Amino acid sequence: MTSQEPVTDWAKDFDYFDPEFVNDPYPVWEELRGRCPVAHTERRGGAWMPSRYEELNQVTHDTEHYSSVMIGVTGPKPGESPLLVAPPITSDPPDHALARRLLLPAFSPKPVDKLEPTTRGIARELIADINARGDGLADAAREYSQHLPVRVISLMLGVPRSDEAQFTDWVTRVLQIGPTDLEAGRVATKEVLAYFKDLIEQRTLMEEHPDDLLSYLMDVRLEDGEPLSEKHLLGTCFLILVAGIDTTWSSIGSSLLHLATHPEDLERLVAEPDLVPTAIEEFLRAYAPVTMARMVTAETTLGGQQLCPGDRVLLPFPAGNRDPAVFDDPEQVLIDRQHNRHAAFGLGIHRCLGSNLARMELRVAVEEWLAAFPTFSLVEGADVRWNGGQVRGPRSIPVQVATSA
Ligand code: HEM
Repeated sequence: MTSQEPVTDWAKDFDYFDPEFVNDPYPVWEELRGRCPVAHTERRGGAWMPSRYEELNQVTHDTEHYSSVMIGVTGPKPGESPLLVAPPITSDPPDHALARRLLLPAFSPKPVDKLEPTTRGIARELIADINARGDGLADAAREYSQHLPVRVISLMLGVPRSDEAQFTDWVTRVLQIGPTDLEAGRVATKEVLAYFKDLIEQRTLMEEHPDDLLSYLMDVRLEDGEPLSEKHLLGTCFLILVAGIDTTWSSIGSSLLHLATHPEDLERLVAEPDLVPTAIEEFLRAYAPVTMARMVTAETTLGGQQLCPGDRVLLPFPAGNRDPAVFDDPEQVLIDRQHNRHAAFGLGIHRCLGSNLARMELRVAVEEWLAAFPTFSLVEGADVRWNGGQVRGPRSIPVQVATSA
């Protein structure tokens, strides 16, 4: 079966990149949950796909049978070397704990709170650019959601903001193009690693290192007094740059798209700004962007299926977030939903390290947008483009905006 042929049976021959599925995957997962909770495909190197929260929870908590050495929804075949080592996301126990612990201080609430005023400033700059055009139109994805996360992470990591277009291009090639064009992903990955190698070499020549995450990672010492190996350091820099951009860009985009198409929710949020954090959790649940994967390391069963070493298992967290066994009315987007232990940030030991930062960026992005454009709506007949695969999000959201003035 080639990946071009249309899918006739989603349980036995799914295609994660089928354009209709990318646009609206939820009916497929709903059908699978009732019929065959763990689907299979031979396409794109082969994979299993659970559709219920229960199996997602099982896989993410079972590091004896599932490894994170390969986390791409497509990628090298078993036995081939992974594209990249990027601790902690590609690490398994026992190495994972240390790699994660090193990063925790940078992503805890205090340092993230400090970034809030700058994040607000960035949001206002982007809005000012839109207003300066004065035509009452905007692309909420291309002119807003896309820029905020890359500017914030550049600042945190200590890489020049003037390289923004380059970072966006790398993220696009690694996460949006790479899953269906492995060579494009490989080339972009090498470019990112070479960029950080250069930057680190330049820094080692400096007498004093600036106070940022890159310096912290260069200067940190392990328990044995040794610095991080070059491979670890470069892989972690790659991860921090890439993990925080497309994901947050997608989540800000789908939140604004929801509001642009649901005037009653927009009106309520403008009237009740205190509801924004709760609404954001609901947008994260309902439009969760990230699908990860694991590689099976020892024979096991999942949802009644027999899995063998080397098999790839997709982790569609967005499917778990719509599971009626866990969420009441899962297909309804309820901006005041109270019980909402969603899996948008993953489950188990690899749960997102950047969730405080992502939540702050999302809240600020939505608050500033609503303050500037309390009424906005999707342009009639607009062509909203979704990108799918590893990170799903709207890439173009043409809206009409009316300013608050
Ligand atoms: C809405 C935005 C975001 C979403 C939905 C998201 C989602 C996820 C998910 C699902 C995982 C689990 C991976 C796995 O199980 O294999 C993860 C891990 C991770 N995320 Fe995020 N993420 C977001 C933003 C960020 C940001 C802003 C950063 C900051 C750089 C970040 C850094 C990380 C890191 C370092 C890990 C690996 C943690 C580990 O392996 O222990 N993420 N993220």
